[in-house]
Amino acid sequence: LAAAETAESRLAFSMVKANTLDTITVPEGYKWEVVASWGDPLFSNAPAFDPMTGGTGASQELAFGDHNDGMAFFVKDGKQIMAINNEYTNEKTLHANRADGMPINADDVRKNKAAHGVSIIEVDQRGGKWGIVQDSPYNRRITADTEMDITGPARGHKWMQTSEDPKGVVAKGTWNNCGNGQTPWGTYLTCEENFNGYFTASKDFKMPDDYKRYGVSNEGRYNWALSDDRFNLDKEPNEPNRFGYIVEIDPLDPTSRPKKRTALGRFKHENAELTIAANGHVVVYLGDDERGEFLYRFVSKHKYLAGGNNRDLLEEGTLYVAKFHDNNRGEWLALTPKTTGMTEAEIAIHTRMAASKVGATTMDRPEWVASHPHKVEAYCALTNNSNRGVKPNAGGDETPAVGPNPRVKNNFGQIVRWMPMNEDHTSAEFKWDLFVLAGNPAVYTDANAGSKNINQDNMFNSPDGLKFDSKGLLWIQTDGNYSNEKDFQGQGNNQMLVGDPETGEIRRFLVGPKECEITGLAWNASKTTMFISVQHPGEDGNSHWPNGGQSVPRSSVVAISREDGAVIG
Ligand code: FEO
Ligand code: CA
Ligand code: CA
Ligand code: CA
Repeated sequence: LAAAETAESRLAFSMVKANTLDTITVPEGYKWEVVASWGDPLFSNAPAFDPMTGGTGASQELAFGDHNDGMAFFVKDGKQIMAINNEYTNEKTLHANRADGMPINADDVRKNKAAHGVSIIEVDQRGGKWGIVQDSPYNRRITADTEMDITGPARGHKWMQTSEDPKGVVAKGTWNNCGNGQTPWGTYLTCEENFNGYFTASKDFKMPDDYKRYGVSNEGRYNWALSDDRFNLDKEPNEPNRFGYIVEIDPLDPTSRPKKRTALGRFKHENAELTIAANGHVVVYLGDDERGEFLYRFVSKHKYLAGGNNRDLLEEGTLYVAKFHDNNRGEWLALTPKTTGMTEAEIAIHTRMAASKVGATTMDRPEWVASHPHKVEAYCALTNNSNRGVKPNAGGDETPAVGPNPRVKNNFGQIVRWMPMNEDHTSAEFKWDLFVLAGNPAVYTDANAGSKNINQDNMFNSPDGLKFDSKGLLWIQTDGNYSNEKDFQGQGNNQMLVGDPETGEIRRFLVGPKECEITGLAWNASKTTMFISVQHPGEDGNSHWPNGGQSVPRSSVVAISREDGAVIG
């Protein structure tokens, strides 16, 4: 009997085998159901989802967005409310009525923009099944056109000013909302990741170096500039500076305006893992998901006061970037005018360049961070780095295989964890180790076989979503190579696993349908239901999940529970 199968394991389910089926597989004794899918109307006056056209601009503005990712669960006055990111779109299905799957007119652009952003929905169980409560006053779409306040050091800076907003204080919209965060004062944090890909410019437009560092190019992929000059750099050269932030939303007040929290820096944000340090300061861990970019920490200026007014704690604070040393020690380097020679506004807008100035450690694509609920330690998924040494964006730093990024060619990814000194999340120093080095022990015997807690039964690649449950077990979601061949032979579709930080044991809990990623995680109040996102099933055209037959694949929120109704997480 392997150690993983002994009675002492805290992972009390039988491991799901890797597979390439076009469905969801969960352990015996568990069940799943779809809660909400792309295109589901949030209001009874909205048209039903039309799979032939993918709907119109008007219908999409009243419907659940595409490519759901990070999410959080809230309760108010007995109502259950979820805020769910809609990261990007699958144009082939969204614009199924367009030959090349691209927006070709203003209404297509309106629809595409409305499929992005955040969906806020009230949910409940009727006849034992979770679903959207249509017409709930909480139901709301936040899209690429929703007005939001710019707060923090970048507010009003000249780089933030545009012809529509000459003061640089109100941005329109949010997009490419990947991971998320949640605050103890009842708000939702949504994280702008690959914001760069939406802008276009003529060949004559001279791309500034800072835009190159952020991957802004002359050729965005969404055609939004077709009917909105904000996405045409020749006309609105500052617009990209208004994206790449953490946005704070109050999902319990449908009239509230979202706030861009520029103090948390501008980069390709993955999630925003918030914890309250022992000394009362709010700490937010933040990954910048790009090869050779960095891991960050925000520490609020003011302290959290239970029962007090904490609503603007994310407006002011200090941003730090991680430097890992090879002796399993590390330090947080402050990004201040003194350490960078930049103003606070410049640090907030050009965060990547500020971090390069202080000598941070380039990482293998930092994805989600998860903070342990009962111990002062945190984990970050470093998803992979298959192209080390080839700089993704001009101006980036060298990317040697050092510290928690030990493999020169890293197809599989790893999870690093750090233990802040003095059990204080605001400490300047930490100790670190690798919780797992993913790999394929069926193909390799070297470092690509993975760490000791990886075997041919539980192997996976490209960890991405991470979240702790209330018992201190770490849920691990993958967004990787699902070819099931060569390096990835035997790993099947993207999946969700659970790790025990105490023993290192990892078990596969769920396998997703074809060509999806598994991401986002939330629980209902009683923790009898766990919600996840199945994003972009059939992104290469080979899935009919969730409805089967010849139906169009639809990104969906899925509820998982135990057949016996017991707590799950
Ligand atoms: Fe949207 Fe880094 O994942
Ligand atoms: Ca994703
Ligand atoms: Ca992700
Ligand atoms: Ca990813």
